Amino acid sequence: MRKPALIKLALFLLGIGIGAFGAANIVNVLRQRDAYPRGVMNVMQHRYATLRQELRLKRCEVKTTAPALASLHQFAGDLEQVFYPDDTADAPFREFAQRLRDALATASGVADCPALAPTVDMIGAACDACHREYR
Ligand code: HEC
Repeated sequence: MRKPALIKLALFLLGIGIGAFGAANIVNVLRQRDAYPRGVMNVMQHRYATLRQELRLKRCEVKTTAPALASLHQFAGDLEQVFYPDDTADAPFREFAQRLRDALATASGVADCPALAPTVDMIGAACDACHREYR
């Protein structure tokens, strides 16, 4: 191979290397940026599943449902901050988040399955409503 061709090849490979490195970095940054909101969502999913499970088992003991509801309550409280850390959340997003908070508010004092069931349905509907627009 002639020298200029070798240099060109070396530069070409260097370019690919830098490009791949840069792309991997960008993907990493994007993934980290999503990690927090996704983590919050997964915890909410877990808490919600606990409530569904209690209903299925016809148990609905306060010692299980109260912490699940409290945790959902806490996370629902700052969804706007979680998803829009540097910005004001879209108006529809705020409405969906509020809808979840309203659903959770109906849970206060709930101590048996017949009372819990409609609340859990409302919570699930609030999750789905936001996901239809934003997920
Ligand atoms: C106000 C809007 C909003 C509400 C309310 C909401 N979510 Fe989400 N959820 C999102 C968005 C936006 C995503 C997509 C996040 C992403 O992929 O970065 C998401 C993603 C998820 C995911 C997937 C996470 C992952 O690892 O990709 C789960 C699970 C989830 N939500 C569960 C729930 C549950 C359970 C509720 C109700 C208790 C709920 N969400 C309520 C906006 C919302």
